[in-house]
Amino acid sequence: MAHILIIDDDEGLVHFLRRFFQRKGYDVTACLTGREALAAIPKQSFDLILLDYKMPDINGLDMLAEIRRIEIKTPVILMTAYGTTDLAIETMKLGAYDYLTKPFDRKDLSRIVTEALAVNRQMKERVRIGTGPFTAAEAVDSRSIRMVGHGKQMQEIFKRIGQVAANDVPVLITGESGTGKELVARALYHHSHRNDRPFIAVNCAAIPDNLFESELFGHERGAFTGADRTYIGKMERCDHGTLFLDEISELAPGVQAKLLRALQEGEIERVGGSGPIKVDVRVIAATNRNLEQEIETGGFRKDLYWRLKVITIDLPPLRRRREDIPHLADYFLARFCAEYNRPQCYLSESALTKLTAYSWPGNVRELENCIRRAVLLTAGDVIPDGSLMIPDAETEPLPGDLDTAQLMARLRAMLDDILPQLLKRPGQGLHAHLVEVVETAAITHALDACDNNQVQAAALLGISRNTLRQRLKKQQDPA
Ligand SMILES: Nc1ncnc2c1ncn2[C@@H]1O[C@H](COP(=O)(O)OP(=O)(O)OP(=O)(O)O)[C@@H](O)[C@H]1O
Ligand SMILES: [Mg+2]
Repeated sequence: MAHILIIDDDEGLVHFLRRFFQRKGYDVTACLTGREALAAIPKQSFDLILLDYKMPDINGLDMLAEIRRIEIKTPVILMTAYGTTDLAIETMKLGAYDYLTKPFDRKDLSRIVTEALAVNRQMKERVRIGTGPFTAAEAVDSRSIRMVGHGKQMQEIFKRIGQVAANDVPVLITGESGTGKELVARALYHHSHRNDRPFIAVNCAAIPDNLFESELFGHERGAFTGADRTYIGKMERCDHGTLFLDEISELAPGVQAKLLRALQEGEIERVGGSGPIKVDVRVIAATNRNLEQEIETGGFRKDLYWRLKVITIDLPPLRRRREDIPHLADYFLARFCAEYNRPQCYLSESALTKLTAYSWPGNVRELENCIRRAVLLTAGDVIPDGSLMIPDAETEPLPGDLDTAQLMARLRAMLDDILPQLLKRPGQGLHAHLVEVVETAAITHALDACDNNQVQAAALLGISRNTLRQRLKKQQDPA
């Protein structure tokens, strides 16, 4: 449960905030003077500090500087009645996470607090790497999580993380959804020299196109309609820290150019701003897309790609490292049994066989959810295969609500099973056969779906009508 420290001499506001946070299930400590707060901070661990700028005994900025000196990682949100731009900027320069102008509304308060608590967790929860035994004490330790990997491929990845974490180079992490890209980004941060500085994650897929620029670079008050206060962007907030750009392929084209410039020159400009601002950030990017393909179709800039992929870490899908499945399952079992206050439970022989045979299109995330569910569904201490709720065989019908990425993962999984057999029979034009089989199937289904309308079928497949015509001709007349 998160623990919030409120520092404010306004007893009415403290009362309101205390109730507001307690209702959300947080622990709250309140201090009415700066001195009292400075005495409390080293003694307890707080996840977030809300600080009134105007304390009677110590000036807000001095207070902030002192808090940062004692406890650098806990996000501080400054509350001020004077919504001046200068103060906001001064505050953020001193390392405040954000500021709120009194009187603030509950929605703003909730949003900023939720965001700050997520940052707090990402910065403080250490990602441990290792194959040692997983102890009960580690299972209940909320300050660390483990990245599990016993097979050769993951061992290579751990080695790579160790080699590059401390070097200040950009890293591009690729891999299907759920393979652990975010975990790698956090491991890199925790093992870097910047680990006492901010780690800020930006999910590029979650930000509307027209807000990207101001989210990354910030904006001045009045820069556009609705910009009613100066906003310090993520890059500036992250100065000397690590910026994690998740789902980088979703970055709007205009912002890609500006990000490239920022990385090259080490400076940014706020939207509506009056000049460049120096920033020093290490960028770690992640994507589950094939960026080279995106470059070919014009969706991603080649020059930015080269800038980001100084070092790449490619996470293999779980079905290609099945040797890790039992270890991951053990780890999740220990963690969830501890989390739900249950005695340690174990997998039955048949459950383990089922887990290792399944193709895991959702990768480690799917396995994690599967084990969580099984722990909750099982009464005794042995988990039968029936509690796993995964399909028996890959031939079971696909659920209708899978998205494209999941369906492509299923297709790849099926090919992974078949290809090793085919590759045992060399010299039979395998490449040409495969391409033909896939293409013919795709064209046939598309034409069926469009009542043989070639224009519509071509659009569905994302090819030109001429290409479709050529392919059909080739099918009818293979010579
Ligand atoms: N090797 C691992 N050991 C332990 N837990 C893991 C491992 N890999 C992933 N996880 C867990 O699986 C879940 C998914 O991992 P993560 O969010 O890092 O994946 P991702 O590649 O970023 O996925 P997406 O592309 O969907 O964002 C998380 O809860 C993470 O802690
Ligand atoms: Mg992710």
